[in-house]
This record gives sequence, structure tokens and C-alpha cells, in this order.
Amino acid sequence: TKLEMFVDELPDMPKIYGFEMKNGVPISKSLEIGMFMKKWKFHRDLPSTPVFAYGTSLDTATIPGPTIETIHGVQTSITWQNHLPPRHILPWDPTIPTAVSKHNGVPTVVHVHGGIHEPQSDGNANAWFTNQFTEIGPTWSQKTYSYNNKQHPGTLWYHDHAMGLTRVNLLAGLIGAYIIRDPSQEGPLQLPLDQPLIVFDRSFYTDGSIYMNRTGNNPTIHPTWRPEYFGDVIIVNGKVWPRMTVHRRKYRFRIINASNARYYRFYFTNGLSFVHVGSDSAYLPRPVEVDKFVMAPSEIADVIVDFSTVGYDSVLLANDAPYPFPSGTPVDEFNSKIMKFVIKGGRKTDMWKVPSSLIRYPTPESSTISTTRYISMYEYTSGTGEPTHLYINGKSYDEPATEIVKVGSTEIWDVINLTADNHPLHVHLGLLGVLDQRELVNVEEFKACMMKMNDAMKCHVENYARGDIVQAAEHERGWKNVVKMSPGFLTRVVVRFAFIHSDESYPFDATAEPGYAYHCHILDHEDNVMIRPLKLVS
Ligand code: C2O
Ligand code: CU
Repeated sequence: TKLEMFVDELPDMPKIYGFEMKNGVPISKSLEIGMFMKKWKFHRDLPSTPVFAYGTSLDTATIPGPTIETIHGVQTSITWQNHLPPRHILPWDPTIPTAVSKHNGVPTVVHVHGGIHEPQSDGNANAWFTNQFTEIGPTWSQKTYSYNNKQHPGTLWYHDHAMGLTRVNLLAGLIGAYIIRDPSQEGPLQLPLDQPLIVFDRSFYTDGSIYMNRTGNNPTIHPTWRPEYFGDVIIVNGKVWPRMTVHRRKYRFRIINASNARYYRFYFTNGLSFVHVGSDSAYLPRPVEVDKFVMAPSEIADVIVDFSTVGYDSVLLANDAPYPFPSGTPVDEFNSKIMKFVIKGGRKTDMWKVPSSLIRYPTPESSTISTTRYISMYEYTSGTGEPTHLYINGKSYDEPATEIVKVGSTEIWDVINLTADNHPLHVHLGLLGVLDQRELVNVEEFKACMMKMNDAMKCHVENYARGDIVQAAEHERGWKNVVKMSPGFLTRVVVRFAFIHSDESYPFDATAEPGYAYHCHILDHEDNVMIRPLKLVS
């Protein structure tokens, strides 16, 4: 039985303020946010679902969690508390590199995605902890995380990052939005109607519990792990195919793709367009209007939508991205629908205009670019041709860091995708800018060499990286936290390990243990084991 679409109203998640006002001035604040097991109603006709939810108490915890509102330059400290039960609600797989608690308990650790934070507060995969901090992972160092919020204003999100459990902890519900505002920089950009839309896909059993496969695609190697989780219903802000009643005005939507593996290619069914003002955590230099755009897992689109003059009473936000992306199964009548906007009132003009110039960050000078590295993405398969695991540079996570980066530097990463699917590359602490994407010719020959030698130079990448050059979409040419890597392409990315809005240096020691990480943000890949450590040195 299929759930009826557009019957639940879109919820606005509760807000938690990461600052306090004193004599009209924002000052820093300490918060405690817990992870709770509770029941969540995803749809009018679906029994309540056991979930793991973030919140300040069991009663107020939500899926997604509360939106954390912060102010540029004002520190927010958060003590993340694990109140989860001894056992996970979803099947996990001990045969991949995984955090395992000896005495029961669900390992968790929180990462603020897009944040420029000290390593001890970054949510290192091995800095996990269980209920009451009864057990801690090998790199755990502190209960309270500090977020200086000194970076550029924009949209971030927080989510779990425990080693080998990221895919199941996020599937269970450990996600939420984190916003940094800076009235002095964003002044004319601030819209009163500003709404995060956190989108993910899930499947459910008829009793309401989350469906996740209990057998792997290679069960003799990995009993439950599969390369991608795809759900058959689409959820926004915790409701299945919701509807939102809007006025005939402009809205700002901060769209976060919190799915494990699903890409979306969003469009409106009646031709309304999206005006992108930001991409991931950073603003664009000027607005970019598009009818359609693709979002990989963990990407953020900061868009303005104008409902003022449409000649309809409702419009659907739709999706036509095959899964896996780009050449998997085509969408069907269910996963092609996201949500419905019901437009209230007669046509009128909204006087608010998107400023023609937004925030322009300095581009790095080529003289500051210190290093060029090759980063290669591999998929390994069993005798049956089924994926068994994925690696970056042919290495698992526990091999020593090979990406050793100088504090404040800018590098070029030549990312070579030798798999058949697109992968969203995410670099902690870094801001990424796509230079170009070049198709690899004779890719099978190059791949054969790379699988043997794992060395792009020795395999003469220059002889292969000479196919068509493809530009990134215009709205993706600013600074980003995640970049989509097309299969069979070499994508050249500038990675900046510093702030983008000023010459200010880090207000913390980025070289401290346990360092950072970079990884594919398809969570099922990240867990097995498309993640590598990233070390900063002075
Ligand atoms: Cu969104 Cu390393 O994570
Ligand atoms: Cu991947």
C-alpha cells in the first residue's frame, strides 16, 4: 500500500539559538543537545516509527533535529549527549571498519558539515562515544565541542559521523540544519521567509519502522552492507511528501540533501525557477537562475523561489535523477515527487528583489597554490561483479594520512573517478572550487594500470585526461564544501584550507590531533571505506 501524497503539512523544525543577547549584543552560549530514541510520525497513515532524534529533551526532539541558529563571530559551545538505548534500531555490519562498543551502546559523534573548527570539535569518526560517555573511541578527547562561527555566513548541517555507522545513524534520524548569520554582510539578502528543507528518502515496514536491508549484496563478505541505500518514499523536514502553504511572495529555501545515496534533479512542474544565492555554506557572487539542478547527498542549495506571479494555485517540486546517479534506475511516479506548494491569495507583485550582487570572496592567487595532488576513486568487486568496497587512492581509512596539508594553504586536487557512478567529494575544513572536469579517454586501459600501480603519474594520466572539458554548472562555480565527481572524469578542484572572507587566520590550532578527514558523501561508500584522514601541519 502506498502512502497518500501531500496530506501532511511541512513542519518547521524548532530553533535553538547558539547565542544570547546582552544589552543588545549577541554573546556566546553553551548548549546541551541530546540524541534520543523516540517515535516519530512520518505520515498521517503510517504508524509511528522508532527513530534516533536530536533535541534538547526527549519530548522536543525532532526529525530532522532542531535548526541551530548562530551569529558570525559569536562562539557556540555544544555538549552532545548520547541518550540512545544499548542496541541500534537498524542492522549494522561489523565486517567493515566500524566503531563497536564492548558493553552495548550506540557509538555516535557529531560533525558540523561545512564548519571551520578545531580538530577536537570536528567529529572525528573515531572520537565516538556511547550513552553517558560510558565508552569512547580511540580519538575521543572532549565532551563539549566549540564552534567559533568565525567563518562566512551561510547554511551548514550537523549529522552523525561515527566510524562505519554513519549510514545507519543518519538513516535513524541524526541530522539537522545549522545556520550562521551575519547581518552586517547579509543585510539586503535577509528574507523573512527563510525555510530549511531537509530532503531524504526512506522505506518503511507496514508497522512503521524504517526498512533497511538485512542482507548484503555480497553476504559472504559483508553480511548486511550494500553499496547504496535508496528508499521508496521522499521525506522533507520529517514528513513524507508534505505540502506547504505559501503566500504569493518570494521565499528563501535552504535545501539540504540528507539522503544516504540518492541524488535529486529538482524542478517545478509548472516551470517556476530557482534563483541560487548560495551553494553549500558560501554565497555566490551573483544570483544564478535555473529551471533544474542536481544535488548530490550532502550538497546544499540556497535558493529564492518567487510564488508571487504564478498563474497556478499549487506547484509540485519534482525530481528526475536516476539512481544511482547518473546512469541508474529512472525515477518512478513516487520518487519523482518531493512536495507540494499550495499558493494562497491572488496574484500580486513582491517588491523584494534579489540583489544583483551578493557576496564576493577573494579568489586565491595562483602564487599561493602550493601543491597538486592526485586523488583516485576506486570500486572493488567480488567474483560475481558485485561491489565489495570502495577506496580513495587504493587505501582504507586506517592507513596513515597521505594528504598532509600546510595550515592556510591552497592546493589543487586532481580527482580521478574510476567508477561508474558519481561521487560527492567532501573535504573537512576545506572550501572547494571546481576548475574544470575533463573526460578520460581509453578509460579502461588507464583503469587497468591504476588498479595495478595506483599512481596517476606512472600510469601517464596526461595521456588519458584529454577528452572533452565540461564546465561546472554556473551556480556551482563558487566556493563549496562538496563537489560532484563525474564517472570517467578527472575533476580539477582548488581546495582552500582557510577562511574565504578575509585574511584572518584560524582561531584554533588546526594541526592538533585527531586531524580531519575527506570522503565520499554517499554514506554507504564512506562507511566502506571511501574516507581518508587529512592532516594539517604548520
Ligand atoms: Cu557531512 Cu565528513 O561529513
Ligand atoms: Cu562514493
